[in-house]
Amino acid sequence: IGEPGHIYVESLIEMSLGLAIGAITFSGSLIAFAKLQALMTGAPLLFPGQHKLNLALGILLVVLIVLFVATGSQFVFWLIALLAFGLGFLIIIPIGGADMPVVVSMLNSYSGWAAAAAGFMLSNDLLIVTGALVGSSGAILSYIMCRAMNRSLWSVVFGGFGATPAAPSGPQAPAGTVQEATADQVAELLASARSVIVVPGYGMAVAQAQHPVKDLTTLLQKRGIKVRYAIHPVAGRLPGHMNVLLAEAAVSYELVEEMDEINPDFADTDAVIVIGANDIVNPSALTDASSPIYGMPVLEVWKAARVVMMKRSMNAGYAGVDNPLAYKENTVMLFGDAKATVTKLVAALQAKGAAA
Ligand code: TAP
Repeated sequence: IGEPGHIYVESLIEMSLGLAIGAITFSGSLIAFAKLQALMTGAPLLFPGQHKLNLALGILLVVLIVLFVATGSQFVFWLIALLAFGLGFLIIIPIGGADMPVVVSMLNSYSGWAAAAAGFMLSNDLLIVTGALVGSSGAILSYIMCRAMNRSLWSVVFGGFGATPAAPSGPQAPAGTVQEATADQVAELLASARSVIVVPGYGMAVAQAQHPVKDLTTLLQKRGIKVRYAIHPVAGRLPGHMNVLLAEAAVSYELVEEMDEINPDFADTDAVIVIGANDIVNPSALTDASSPIYGMPVLEVWKAARVVMMKRSMNAGYAGVDNPLAYKENTVMLFGDAKATVTKLVAALQAKGAAA
């Protein structure tokens, strides 16, 4: 800012960019929050001409920014705020449940760029550097997650390009019969295995079951059983969600393997314990082109000799789709809250140890 009443052109550019990116991030984050909290449907909300409308509004936003820089008009400033706010809503509503993780990290990145723009305007180096760090790390993380989920980054950035309406969510009719097991039967199965892979998911986080899970795997290791954890890049609800929980329970990093590393090993594994995970182990992501999660790589647990799926009911996971894994011949269901069930398994294994 120079003489009173005069604002440099550079400052007007920084101000309008910061405002536009910040407003898009704010309203987009409100929608992401509502989707993640199930306050609104997680399915893509699509309407005819949506992408053309977004494109037109995007072009209008650029025109308004140019106009603001040329005139410094306060009225145009507030128009930019209003338009960017609306655009944030429109960009995020067509994004489906399965793509939300990427959106969350993209919004995180946008907030960094908005802060960096504000830093330029205020000549605040700290804000520029921290904003640019948040912006670029969020963008890199989004790119990595897009690759892991086999999605195009551009389609997510521009609001669900190519998204098709998801199948109606809500309770679905069971697509087969399941085999239910008791904690004692599962303990027996695990005790006779030579290799076990644990797949944690959102339900483990909800139940805060990571400490009993660590106790369970320690007991298995004491029996000479090879134990590993398999981590899907979007397991849970936050990037790195499972890694943080396992680290909190002091699980050794050496036992924790990423999806690409461990997928080839399921075929040689005796037992897989799926703890509160659903979408990340859904075989239809590979086989059913109509599924909203089609194309997302998953942990191919069904290739193991036996699978134990631990959850409270037959409810679907985040993407709202049925999981054929539950009906496979080599799968048994162990129903109940993850923490309570794993604690029962630990007790059953300890009793076995004492009896042996
Ligand atoms: P989900 O597919 O959401 O499945 C979690 C399962 O846990 C549910 O089916 C639920 O079944 C069970 N569960 C819930 N509470 C439980 C409890 N207390 N005890 C035992 N089980 C419980 O989770 P996932 O497999 O981890 O996949 C993650 C999903 O979230 C993906 O679709 C992903 O795209 C999405 N997402 C991920 C992120 C990031 S960055 N990770 C962000 C947003 C969205 P019951 O109700 O029958 O128990």
